[in-house]
Amino acid sequence: MDIYSTALVLCALFLTGSGDPLIPPQGAGTQTGEQTPVLSIEPRNAVVRQGDSVSFRCLIQSGAQPIQLEWKKINNQLLADNVKMGPDGSVLTISNSRLGNQGTYRCVGTNAHGRSTSSASLTIQYAPKVQATPKGPVRLRVGEAINLECHATGRPRPSVSWQRQGGGKTGTSSSTEAKAMVQVAAASPSDGGVYVCKAENSEGVAELKVEVTVEGGAQTPTPPRASILQGDTVAVEGDSATLTCQATGYPAPVIGWSKLRAPCPGSTRQDSGQYICNATNTAGFSEATVQIEVETPPYATCIPEQVRVQVGDVIRLQCLAHGTPPVRFHWTRVRGSMPPRAQITDGALVISQARSADAGTYKCVASNKWGSSEAQVKVTIRSA
Ligand SMILES: *[C@@H]1O[C@H](CO)[C@@H](O)[C@H](O)[C@H]1NC(C)=O
Repeated sequence: MDIYSTALVLCALFLTGSGDPLIPPQGAGTQTGEQTPVLSIEPRNAVVRQGDSVSFRCLIQSGAQPIQLEWKKINNQLLADNVKMGPDGSVLTISNSRLGNQGTYRCVGTNAHGRSTSSASLTIQYAPKVQATPKGPVRLRVGEAINLECHATGRPRPSVSWQRQGGGKTGTSSSTEAKAMVQVAAASPSDGGVYVCKAENSEGVAELKVEVTVEGGAQTPTPPRASILQGDTVAVEGDSATLTCQATGYPAPVIGWSKLRAPCPGSTRQDSGQYICNATNTAGFSEATVQIEVETPPYATCIPEQVRVQVGDVIRLQCLAHGTPPVRFHWTRVRGSMPPRAQITDGALVISQARSADAGTYKCVASNKWGSSEAQVKVTIRSA
C-alpha cells in the first residue's frame, strides 16, 4: 500500500516535471562554471501521505569528478532521524513520513572547483483534526445564545460543517475555510442535543461532538395566566394612565391589549371603558379586564348668552355644563347682589316680576370633583 502510493506520486511528478528547465547551479561563485557541479533533483516536489515513504534523487548533470554529494534541510536544520542518505549521497529517503519532515531539502555537490546546490520540497498530507470552542458540554438557559465554533486543520484543507445528531436544524450555521459556526440567538429546548462537527479531506474524516443542554427544556407547555397590576382606574382627562399586564405560562405568552366598546355610545369620555389584556401561547390564552373611567372637569355655557325682558316678565337663565356628574351650579351677580326673588333649580336661575334694577350680568359657575368653569349672561330690561 505504501509502495503503491509512493510510486504513484513519483510517476505524476515525473510527468509534470518533464518540460521544466533544469535548475541552474546555485552558489557557483567566481568559478568559471564548466567544472563546477551542476545538479538536479527528482522529484522537485513531492506530496505524500503522513506515514508514507518518499525518496529524492540528486542527479549530477555535469562537473568535474570527484563530486561529493550531501543533503541538507533548508536553514541548515539537522535531518530528522527518519531521513537517511544513501551510501553515495545521491538518494535521500524519508521513511514513515511525519509532519515535521515537511519543507525544502537541498542537495549540495562539492568538487575541486566549487560547490552548488539544488532543492526540492516535500509536502505531507494528513487527515483533518478538529477542535471546538467551547469544548462542551455546554449548559445554558432557554433564551440564551448558542455559539459553537469548530476549527479544523489538515492537508489538503478540509471542508468542515456542523450537524445535529439524529438530524434537526443547527440554527444559523456557516462554514468558511476550515472553520464552521453554529449560532442560535435565543435557545429553545429543541436546540438542545448533540452537535457534531465533521471535517473531511482526501486523507480522512474527523468528528467531534459537543453536547448542548438547554435548561428549562423539560418544562411542559402551560397555558398563560394573565393579570393586570392596576385595579379599576380613574383618570382625569388629559392625564395619561398606564396599565401593566403580566402573564405566566410556558412558552412565554404573547400579550396584547384591546378595548371593549364604551358602555354608553356617544359618551364624550371616549377612553372610558373596559380594557382587555390577552395573553396567548401554544397551550392556550387568558384574558384579564380592567375598567377605566376617564373623568372630565365641567365646561359651562349659558343659553342664551343675552336675555331681553319687559318689566314684570319672568327672567329665566339656563346654565349647561359638560363634565363628569355630579355637576353643581352656582349663580352670582357680577357687580351687585342677587335679587331676593331669585330661585335656583338645576342650573336654572329664575327671577319673577322683572324690574329695571335687575338688569346686569349674571355668572354661573359649574363645578364637579375635577374642576370648575364659568359662563356669563347679560340681562336687559325694557320698560313697558
Ligand atoms: C385572545 O386570543 C385568543 C387566541 O388568539 C382569541 O381566540 C381571543 O378571541 C382573544 N380575545 C380577545 C378579547 O381578543
